[in-house]
Amino acid sequence: MDPTPGQPWRAGPPGPGFEGTATYIATPDLIVAVNAAVALGRPLLVKGEPGTGKTVLAREVAAALGRPLIEWHVKSTTKAQHGLYEYDAVARLRDSQLGSERVHDIRNYIVRGKVWEAFEAPAGAVLLIDEVDKADLEFPNDLLQELDRMEFYVHETRETVRARHRPVVLITSNDEKELPDAFLRRCFFHYLRFPDPETMARIVRAHHPDLGRDLLAAALDAFYGLREVPGLKKRPSTSELLDWIHLLLAEGVAPGAVRAARGGRSLPPLAGALLKHEHDLGAAGGAPVAGRVG
Ligand SMILES: Nc1ncnc2c1ncn2[C@@H]1O[C@H](COP(=O)(O)OP(=O)(O)OP(=O)(O)O)[C@@H](O)[C@H]1O
Ligand SMILES: [Mg+2]
Repeated sequence: MDPTPGQPWRAGPPGPGFEGTATYIATPDLIVAVNAAVALGRPLLVKGEPGTGKTVLAREVAAALGRPLIEWHVKSTTKAQHGLYEYDAVARLRDSQLGSERVHDIRNYIVRGKVWEAFEAPAGAVLLIDEVDKADLEFPNDLLQELDRMEFYVHETRETVRARHRPVVLITSNDEKELPDAFLRRCFFHYLRFPDPETMARIVRAHHPDLGRDLLAAALDAFYGLREVPGLKKRPSTSELLDWIHLLLAEGVAPGAVRAARGGRSLPPLAGALLKHEHDLGAAGGAPVAGRVG
């Protein structure tokens, strides 16, 4: 039976829970958070630095639970209604001008959104609402009822759409805007802490299983060293590290070259994969700023 929001905590999710996957390294607190949200039937709100695996988490949860993934990527112009359905008045007008039979059934012009798709999924979907903070403040408020009650009303056809199975809802935020309290109250919250070096080594290994131990150690040392440079505008994160290691491997850079740069307090090879502001390149030991003495 699907859990109902507000019901007391149950010992664990029905069936196999989420434990991370071969391609996604999940820390114990993240595993607890995902399974708690599933068991409670609450959306899981995930925050964390950019590039720390918030979006990919939904894909991995879907794969681990064997459920289809439905992704809704929010933009500044996205409205809550887009996720439910849209009425295509232009298509209806065109059909009426062409004398099409379709025009007599208004259901032909109701375009289903991602929430509707998730409600209809036969085996209970994982619904990702990615970067909820991109839209205006009404967006999360306007979805409260629908996500809480797992139903909404279609005015044009006078139908209520109900979820066949409660989807697992994952919501990500980069903290560009504060989310309303009423919305937060309904979510289970998890902050993705930046991985410690040991966890990061496992993440890198998941992406590059053949990476040599020496290059991994040199790259991690340089990477965490860069993150500690004071005053960086954008500290490199997991995604930048993975891109960088990919390039180091493609270019055949030796561990010694990475270590030498760190020892000489200069920029590591291919630093453009890690640092994305000219100010940061300067702060970290390069000389991108005109007139800088090396
Ligand atoms: N725990 C992890 N295990 C395996 N790979 C990870 C992990 N965390 C991050 N990654 C990898 O880092 C990259 C960035 O992940 P993702 O796009 O999900 O980050 P994000 O937090 O959504 O970033 P943004 O805030 O910029 O959207 C992906 O290639 C992902 O596979
Ligand atoms: Mg993302």
